[in-house]
Amino acid sequence: MAGAAKRIILDTDPGIDDALAILLALASPELNVEALTVVMGNCSTAQGVSNALGVLELAGAGNIPVAPGLDRPLLQPLLTAPETHGHTGLGYAQLPPPRRHPANQHAVDLLIERIMAAPGEITVVAIGPLTNLALAIRREPALLQAICEVVIMGGALRHEGNTTPLAEFNVYVDPHAAHIVYHSGLPLTLVPLDVTYQCILTQADVERLLALDSPITRFIADATRFYMEFHDEYQDIQGCVINDPLALALTFAPDLVETRPLHVTVDTHSPLSLGKTMADFYGAWSKPPNMQVALKVQARRFIELFLERMETLARRLK
Ligand code: BDR
Ligand code: CA
Repeated sequence: MAGAAKRIILDTDPGIDDALAILLALASPELNVEALTVVMGNCSTAQGVSNALGVLELAGAGNIPVAPGLDRPLLQPLLTAPETHGHTGLGYAQLPPPRRHPANQHAVDLLIERIMAAPGEITVVAIGPLTNLALAIRREPALLQAICEVVIMGGALRHEGNTTPLAEFNVYVDPHAAHIVYHSGLPLTLVPLDVTYQCILTQADVERLLALDSPITRFIADATRFYMEFHDEYQDIQGCVINDPLALALTFAPDLVETRPLHVTVDTHSPLSLGKTMADFYGAWSKPPNMQVALKVQARRFIELFLERMETLARRLK
């Protein structure tokens, strides 16, 4: 592989697909995972920290720090997603209690310290509500110049919402944080449901992984079994949508998607469309683009990449 590994911090609410994104990051030689910062969303922050530590230990990466972040949104009441991710956030998977403690540093402080120590070098992959990142850039505005890039899983532009008819979960949980980040001037790439809902991990894919008997493949099967039941019951989808791993993959395989520069904003007012992300596709607002938006994806190529990397990780940790 040419060049040094890309340094990333994953800001996450683990979460079944978050756990898969963490595993994909660890399985990707193009990346160096500096830290995980945890935010509430799929489950509470405390539960998410425990899940993050457990997934890292499962993958033999117990040295990566996990910093607890905000435990509630900026203005909205707390909303978690046990029906989607189960009561622990990891579906039917059961991990042993983590042996390690979380970092003795708040996620917002960790983001600021690490990014300011290496200006231009660290990419943030934000796969939960944007509360930690919004507070970090408010607290240290110099981050705006120091962050290399932010890849965000969130939003639903032409696609329906998955939490309200219009709003996607990560944005709906903290629309005010999303508004701050979207309009911050940071170099952003948005990975909305428009592309992630084409990336479906099927039962046949899971069976292919289970051909390798390993704690990693058993974890993926147990976690996704719950997630697939949710997709079947609520959305009539056979398999499960793996949103967060796609956002992660774009840090080293950006050609999996086609992006377009667009002006995107978030509704923070209306009771009906709170958390709705809107892109000005036809330039009606005459505002400059504030992000690159992924609008087309080579979905099966991405799923193959995901499976191959999980197989490699599983063989390594058999
Ligand atoms: C997003 O919401 C969460 O449930 C998933 O982890 C993903 O980040 C999809 O809307
Ligand atoms: Ca997530």
